[in-house]
Amino acid sequence: MAGRSRQAEPALVHANRENWGSKIGVILAVAGSAVGLGNFLRFPGLAATHGGGVFMIPYFISMLILGIPICWVEWSMGRYGGSRGYNSAPGIFTVLWRTNYSKYFGSLAVLIPVVIYMYYVYIEAWCLLYALDYAFGTMDRLADTTSSELNAQAYQGHFEGLVGMRKNGFPAGRTLIVLGIVFTLNFYLIFRGLTRGIETFCKFAMPVLIACAIVILFRVLTLGTPDPAQPEANINNALGFMWNPKADETGSVWGNLANAELWLAASGQIFFSLSVGFGIILNYASYLRKDDDVALSGLTASSTNQFCEVCLGGLITVPVAFLFLGPANLTRDVLGSPMALGFNALPAVFGMMPAGRWFGALWFFMLFTAAITSSLSMLQPAIAFFEEAFKLGRRASVTCLGFVVATGGLIVVYFSKNLLALDTMDFWVGTVCIFILATIQVITVGWVFGIKNAREEVQRGAELKVPYIFWFIIKYISPVYLITIFVAWCYNSIPTKIAEIRALDVEDRHTVLFVLGFLAATFIFFTMLIYLSGRRWRWDTVKSPDVEKVMP
Ligand code: ALA
Repeated sequence: MAGRSRQAEPALVHANRENWGSKIGVILAVAGSAVGLGNFLRFPGLAATHGGGVFMIPYFISMLILGIPICWVEWSMGRYGGSRGYNSAPGIFTVLWRTNYSKYFGSLAVLIPVVIYMYYVYIEAWCLLYALDYAFGTMDRLADTTSSELNAQAYQGHFEGLVGMRKNGFPAGRTLIVLGIVFTLNFYLIFRGLTRGIETFCKFAMPVLIACAIVILFRVLTLGTPDPAQPEANINNALGFMWNPKADETGSVWGNLANAELWLAASGQIFFSLSVGFGIILNYASYLRKDDDVALSGLTASSTNQFCEVCLGGLITVPVAFLFLGPANLTRDVLGSPMALGFNALPAVFGMMPAGRWFGALWFFMLFTAAITSSLSMLQPAIAFFEEAFKLGRRASVTCLGFVVATGGLIVVYFSKNLLALDTMDFWVGTVCIFILATIQVITVGWVFGIKNAREEVQRGAELKVPYIFWFIIKYISPVYLITIFVAWCYNSIPTKIAEIRALDVEDRHTVLFVLGFLAATFIFFTMLIYLSGRRWRWDTVKSPDVEKVMP
């Protein structure tokens, strides 16, 4: 289909589409979707447990050859689909890849944000709980000043109790109440709509969260040597851990880099963090007008995200973990879920600094704000899907989606022992499925829609010329890179993953299998909905002159 003429384009199919209110609004909404717990918790957690500087090499390579180019791919795919009347991924795939089967790829783009929301909103609730605990002095009362070890145990115990990590079952009542409040707030904002809900909220929340993070960063960089008895634990060494790739026993850095899981984790993080490969940008960009810029806007939103991730998230959480937990403890076995690092490590440092209570409240309030701008964006793609698939109104779409995510959310909350349900979803959907969707998207644009069409599409209305090298990367380098890492990872790590599941005790094994079954059922559910919605996304109806009758 590459090289297809523009004259053969289908007629517009939706007349009364929603649009963003302003250019700054859409950039802040996309940046708001990108900047989230991934920047301040997941990235530092992964970097710390994958050897600090060693992680940064595949991370930056992935940013250049995957993150930025695929971000442009998604912005242009979304705007292209949107200007033809589609806001949902099945519709966007249908107009880009003109077969009646391509819409099924869209089911992954609806599944991913919905499933990630199911656990993301739970972590968002922890952030609010921690902010409240700091503000009301509960965390101060926990601190045991007689020994830093007791201190760390007290914070760890608090975290485990709060999230119900010790056993399956529902956690404490106040955790459930705050979760209910956070869940409702998300749905209230999403119900208000694109401009009145998402855009208005992000315009206020983004500057607030960046200002809070800069205040905390300043405090962390002036920590010096917090414990004079341990001169090695100083801020310079902590920053070195983050930035110097560690050599293995043979004195070479390359040995540490020859690990497919490291590369999968780094590229997965780039996707997770930029909200690329999620189906989110695809949907957000579909609300742009036909000639709105995508090149500079995409780059601005991505750069804001990378600034927040590397310069704020990376320079706050990893050095603090290094200083207060010690490099030997920065392993997956000790820390558990990468998302848990900020909850375990940061309280130790707030406990030791003057006015730590208020820095703690600020940090967790900042996390909560960052999280909510992201979780909102995870709901919109499915709302657009329900609206388009069954012509539902916003109220009905929001209700259907609420039912689906509440079911998954309850599974995450109930199967909370060692955060097994959360981690299982985060790995299989938050890393593996994102990886697969990003691969499908880059192949769709590079090889099916065609680089020539894609270049024209990106450059229309663009305030920046995308360098030619990026089109070469999109066509050849990104797909080869993605497929190579994926095949290497499947070959090396799938047997290990299976062995890990087998080695779990019976209760944990059943939890993992149940969660995997639930994920498969949700995927089948969305695929069935696409099938049931019948002719709505059939390519031949899109081409038909009667298209207005089929897609009012
Ligand atoms: N991109 C969002 C984050 O980093 C999902 O948290």
